[in-house]
Amino acid sequence: MNPLNHVAIIMDGNGRWGLKRYNSRNRGHRAGLDTIEKIVRTSIDHNIKFLTLFAFSTENWKRPKSEINYLFDLLENFLKIKLNQFHKNNIKLKIIGQRKFSKKLNKLLSNSEKVTNRNTGLQLNIALNYGSRIEIINSIKKINKKKLSVTEDNINKNLYTKNIPDPDILIRTGKTRRLSNFLLWQLSYTEIFFSNKLWPDFNERNYTDIIKKYRNIKRNFGEV
Ligand code: FPP
Repeated sequence: MNPLNHVAIIMDGNGRWGLKRYNSRNRGHRAGLDTIEKIVRTSIDHNIKFLTLFAFSTENWKRPKSEINYLFDLLENFLKIKLNQFHKNNIKLKIIGQRKFSKKLNKLLSNSEKVTNRNTGLQLNIALNYGSRIEIINSIKKINKKKLSVTEDNINKNLYTKNIPDPDILIRTGKTRRLSNFLLWQLSYTEIFFSNKLWPDFNERNYTDIIKKYRNIKRNFGEV
């Protein structure tokens, strides 16, 4: 049985779900929050150490302003309401991505990380304004600035994900089969699962089925 430390998820399909049911993409994003809660709980049940959720990409700024504002309001309220509960559940929050938000949001993000920093349970990484290519470029720039050599180890140490093991599983919901500039470096040996379910419809059972399948895969890491 394969050990399972880190699950990364591209939570795709909120917009389509909301449009289909309520003629509103934003309703889909709101419904997506319930799935996040289910998946966090199930991750804890499975003793998973790291869960990384792709919440907003560097490319998502191209969306209509009203949707962007809605998403950030949602995130803000989510953090405000859930922080205590996360803390009680020993969850450590970490934001990965370029921190270029309003002063208010930056403060809320830093405070959420600070409050939960010493927690030893699940580490919940939220990828916000995250893009993998820029992450890799910045890592190499930092290495050059420190006059170090460009090695695999040094690149790892200068990514947002330093000190986080590479994902064992990547899940993308929503029928689409692409990586969308998410953790390109870190996913080199990750087992990838695509689900046809839209994110608000994805549930504990679907998640547990993927975990079960993963446990029995023969992982070679390039060997035979
Ligand atoms: C992808 O669906 C989803 C997003 C870009 C946002 C995900 C955000 C949340 C679930 C809520 C906010 C996050 C947190 C952590 C509180 P899509 O809009 O691309 O769906 P589509 O492919 O159907 O258009």
